[in-house]
Amino acid sequence: MSYSPLQTERYNYKPKLPEVLKGNIHKIGINPKGSTRSETNQNELAEMFPRTYGAPFIETLGIEEALESKNVNIGVVLSGGQAPGGHNVISGLYDAMIKANPESKLIGFLGGPSGILENKTLEMNSKIIDQFRNTGGFDIIGSGRTKLETTEQFDICEDVCKLLDISCLVIIGGDDSNTNGAVLAEYFKQKDSGISVIGVPKTIDGDLKNEYIEVSFGFDTATKTYSELIGNIEKDANSAKKYWHFIKLMGRSASHICLECALQTHPNIALISEEIEHNHKSLTEIVLDMVNIIVKRSELGSNYGIVLIPEGLIEFIPEMKQLISELNTLLAEHAEHFSTLHTFEDQSRWINRELSRDSSYVFSTLPNNIQRQLLMDRDPHGNVQVSRIETEKLLIQMIASRLDEMKSEGKYKGSFSPQDHFFGYEGRCAFPSNFDADYCYSLGYNAYILAASELTGYISSIHNLAKPVMEWTAGAVPVTMMMTLEQRHGKLKPVIKKAMVDLEGKPFNEFVSKRDIWAIKSSYMFPGAIQYFGPHEVCDISSITLQLECNK
Ligand code: FBP
Repeated sequence: MSYSPLQTERYNYKPKLPEVLKGNIHKIGINPKGSTRSETNQNELAEMFPRTYGAPFIETLGIEEALESKNVNIGVVLSGGQAPGGHNVISGLYDAMIKANPESKLIGFLGGPSGILENKTLEMNSKIIDQFRNTGGFDIIGSGRTKLETTEQFDICEDVCKLLDISCLVIIGGDDSNTNGAVLAEYFKQKDSGISVIGVPKTIDGDLKNEYIEVSFGFDTATKTYSELIGNIEKDANSAKKYWHFIKLMGRSASHICLECALQTHPNIALISEEIEHNHKSLTEIVLDMVNIIVKRSELGSNYGIVLIPEGLIEFIPEMKQLISELNTLLAEHAEHFSTLHTFEDQSRWINRELSRDSSYVFSTLPNNIQRQLLMDRDPHGNVQVSRIETEKLLIQMIASRLDEMKSEGKYKGSFSPQDHFFGYEGRCAFPSNFDADYCYSLGYNAYILAASELTGYISSIHNLAKPVMEWTAGAVPVTMMMTLEQRHGKLKPVIKKAMVDLEGKPFNEFVSKRDIWAIKSSYMFPGAIQYFGPHEVCDISSITLQLECNK
């Protein structure tokens, strides 16, 4: 294995810990504070989680008495998409565990939650951990999207943990994995299995946040990576002055990534799905708004620009949402018949017959490539895979054809030369920024304290993140208090509500107050590459979203 100079240097980086987690680990403990309740569906959730609902908030703090150094074997699993910092969660967990009792074991489950079901493991040791400190990716043990949700799976988890003498399972994942982790915690408690479950909030999408979780890890590094690339493209556009760049950004449904990148780079246009849905904007209206900006800039001699598009946009446009929902139902209910239609022509003829009149019209107005993408394979839940729909190309095609019409009407004289980009996987495995390196290490370190304190059904939490690390605080939040009930496949299911962009929030309002200027002038901002060494103001800065949200 050969290492780049940066990788070698990053191995030597010592993540900063908040004051409360420093020092003698035997003198760090927990302080339970009152009882908690969910914001909605209190009775139903209390019934679903009789043993874990209402658990107190936890503050991690220094204690007078030294805690005994008992043996705590921990199992750890990475769940879902990669996010920079996962390795630091594991190294923080490992370091705390070894400090407390070198006899304890940290067992990694391979390939995500399926690794538990199949009992595929790797026992951690310093040699392994040292190769992954402060590096991106989840390759230390791999990740996967298997969901742990059935009683049969829970029983296997229990058997495997018992076989490996594991007393706490740490699940590093997003809203779904943490919800399932809480259900598992309740199940283990009900069976008196002696195994606890602790969650760690992960996802680049930034949609696992609320009053108690300031940000999910990975968002900081991913948005900085995308913003560097966007800034570079802005420089190129500003130099060549000949292309309109349409950049789609990963993030699934919520537009947090797109908004943060807009705040960091000041593009000419950034679409925010939540606003589009709120204003019931049709696809045609969105296109016309964009055309207006393109024409205005062209009249000022600027036939170039930058557009940011959130990955999930298409599902927030009312008529597209309706169309997608009808398509999902049709393809689920008639899967067998659909599989007998071998050509796209046959498929689209059948689809057009089955769709409602409105949706059939919308479908027929879409370019052929987008129609094909809408009929592609569904995800395991029967939903269209939005990340595979080339929204950026759809917008380009529709804008180009409107500009052609305007040209023939003598209303537009410019040139429109578009380039499309999709930034997604590029940001998920970057070397974690100092912020994510420190945050993740602290989350993992704190998770050990929670495990050693035999807490279950909690998510490890670090607060005050917009302040310097030494002022961060640590604790734990019961997952049930972040839950609500939602209809899923005709059944009421407990879920942690996904955080969408808050249209009343500071980050969105900051964007709104600037976007008209950014649209017409070229006020681009060039964040440059993530800096790991150098002045504190450059290296340790957190995302603009976090700064604005924490500075309420
Ligand atoms: P998680 O929610 O699991 O963290 O994944 C986030 C994400 O990167 C989304 O932004 C994206 O839509 C999706 O994963 C892509 O999934 P996959 O890696 O399976 O292609």
